[in-house]
Amino acid sequence: MNISVVGTGYVGLVVGACLAETGNTVCCADIDKKKIERLRKNDVPIYEPGLGPIVERNQKEGRLTFTTDLPQAIEPAEVIFIAVGTPPGEDGSADLKHVLKVAELVGRHMGRETVVVTKSTVPVGSAAKIGEAVAKEAKFPFHICSNPEFLKEGDAVEDFMRPDRVVLGVESAHARKVMSDVYAPFVRTGKPILVMDIASAEMTKYAANGMLATRISFMNEIANLCDELGANVDFVRKGIGSDSRIGQSFLFPGPGYGGSCFPKDVKALVRMGAERGVALDVLAAVESANERQKRLLVRKIKNALGDDLKGLHIALWGLAFKAGTDDMREAPSLTLIDALLDEGVTIRAHDPAALDHARVLLGNRIDYAETNYEALAGADALVVVTDWNEYRHPDFRRVKSTLRQPVIVDGRNLYDVEKMRELGVRYHSIGRPSA
Ligand SMILES: NC(=O)c1ccc[n+]([C@@H]2O[C@H](COP(=O)([O-])OP(=O)(O)OC[C@H]3O[C@@H](n4cnc5c(N)ncnc54)[C@H](O)[C@@H]3O)[C@@H](O)[C@H]2O)c1
Repeated sequence: MNISVVGTGYVGLVVGACLAETGNTVCCADIDKKKIERLRKNDVPIYEPGLGPIVERNQKEGRLTFTTDLPQAIEPAEVIFIAVGTPPGEDGSADLKHVLKVAELVGRHMGRETVVVTKSTVPVGSAAKIGEAVAKEAKFPFHICSNPEFLKEGDAVEDFMRPDRVVLGVESAHARKVMSDVYAPFVRTGKPILVMDIASAEMTKYAANGMLATRISFMNEIANLCDELGANVDFVRKGIGSDSRIGQSFLFPGPGYGGSCFPKDVKALVRMGAERGVALDVLAAVESANERQKRLLVRKIKNALGDDLKGLHIALWGLAFKAGTDDMREAPSLTLIDALLDEGVTIRAHDPAALDHARVLLGNRIDYAETNYEALAGADALVVVTDWNEYRHPDFRRVKSTLRQPVIVDGRNLYDVEKMRELGVRYHSIGRPSA
């Protein structure tokens, strides 16, 4: 099938590369010239495990191309995925300007009957606006489809190749048939393609992210209460997670959720409710609990080092909003860094993937270390912010001897409290006893 993907970011690039991998002819288009130039040289501009070889192989075999010429990408396509960003507007609603701009271009340049697929996360009711934008100049029949994406950064290739489910919001038999064909290779193990109306598909994406964000904020608050009451959230997590109605995933407390999706999608959902006079009190609380949680590590650091942090030096492990990605959008590390700098602290940070982004975002406000051990020299505490695998089993004796004070504040509960006690480390984590 001849497919185009407009918007070659974290989502569009994975979608395009994986669709080429199953034999389709795919053109990925973007207005970012630098990004496209790099991709043409198989230089993948994002950190996403497993993606590089797929891009390289499919480009080499001629199934995957990259362009900044959007009309040229649009003209031959039977299916066009719109995967541009939908950042929050000032009132929290998702800003559709990029999506609608692309939809107009699609209408103007389509060269055949086309299925126009919204991959970007858009508010319920957007399909009608997208349809109107395409219709302005369309000379061929077209079919709107809402196909929300559920991939996780860091596992994106695996998630796309082996999805738990595919959601298709369609209103024509043609769109249903074409899109079911596109996804058939990805659901051979029997995972469902759920076909529904467009509004329900659009809503499904927000409801999924709202639910996941709710679990995170809920567990963060339970962990904070464990801290006060002397309970251990590790036991509580296992105790509730083994209930099949609850399940184990997304129950780990931490320094708050970040990334390009949860913060903006929760905001957009609350906004959708407000516009329709429907109270979404739970989600409003999820958001405020998360904002509070992002400041928790500062309090933990003060518990460990005293209220006056001025002149202290902190080693920070992890800048990305979660492990497996270089994405720093809305990362809790940014809130923490701002707060620590305000307190007069100096910071040296390490991250296995996000240092380039960090340098752009933070410049010389902090120092950067090429290895995690290098970050520790002369630091009064190590603060773990992102749960990268390589931070899970460090050489603790080396950590302790390199730090100026043997203090670890662990925002991801990576280490064993008893082991820290034995090592003589002053250890503070979330919802567990301190050592
Ligand atoms: N990142 C995720 O994990 C994830 C998961 C599911 C859904 N989503 C949704 O997918 C959408 C894209 O997210 P992302 O993280 O890939 O964003 P991104 O910022 O990484 O990528 C968006 C790309 O679109 C390009 N673009 C912007 N305007 C354009 C235009 N007019 N024409 C062509 N290209 C244009 C940008 O240059 C950029 O490369 C968002 O709506 C997001 O909510 C993201």
